[in-house]
Amino acid sequence: MNSIINRSWLQLASWLLAGLVLALLPAAVLSGTPKSPPAPTGQTIYKQHCFSCHPGGANLVKPSKPVKDSKTLATFATFKAYLSAPLGHMPYYQHLVEDDAALKALYHYCRAFK
Ligand code: HEC
Repeated sequence: MNSIINRSWLQLASWLLAGLVLALLPAAVLSGTPKSPPAPTGQTIYKQHCFSCHPGGANLVKPSKPVKDSKTLATFATFKAYLSAPLGHMPYYQHLVEDDAALKALYHYCRAFK
């Protein structure tokens, strides 16, 4: 009698253990390869840095100088040059200018304004 109860507890315990291992294994395997956080998209960067003055590619501070269709978007080089030495009240973003990957994402986002 006692041994039957003991055996079924043992069986239950081993099922639980097996279930636990199966449940945790994929997580352990996945977390084994540390991933760097995903690079911010052009849209995220634009929202964080540009949107307040340039919603939808417009220019709230100087309406005659919208982002949309700006000549500074002609090439990535002209865009980078402009952001490296912005005019008037257009702020300078050192961390963006020094990060080509982020700047490229931002560039493509700005070019998509229609
Ligand atoms: C504080 C407000 C402000 C913010 C924030 C801002 N800008 Fe500007 N931006 C301006 C102003 C003002 C001008 C016009 C400068 C001038 O010619 O006097 C301008 C001009 C521009 C132009 C050139 C338009 C042209 O053809 O001359 C581009 C491109 C531009 N901004 C892109 C951006 C991007 C990209 C960001 C975000 C990284 C950004 N701006 C953030 C105010 C801002």
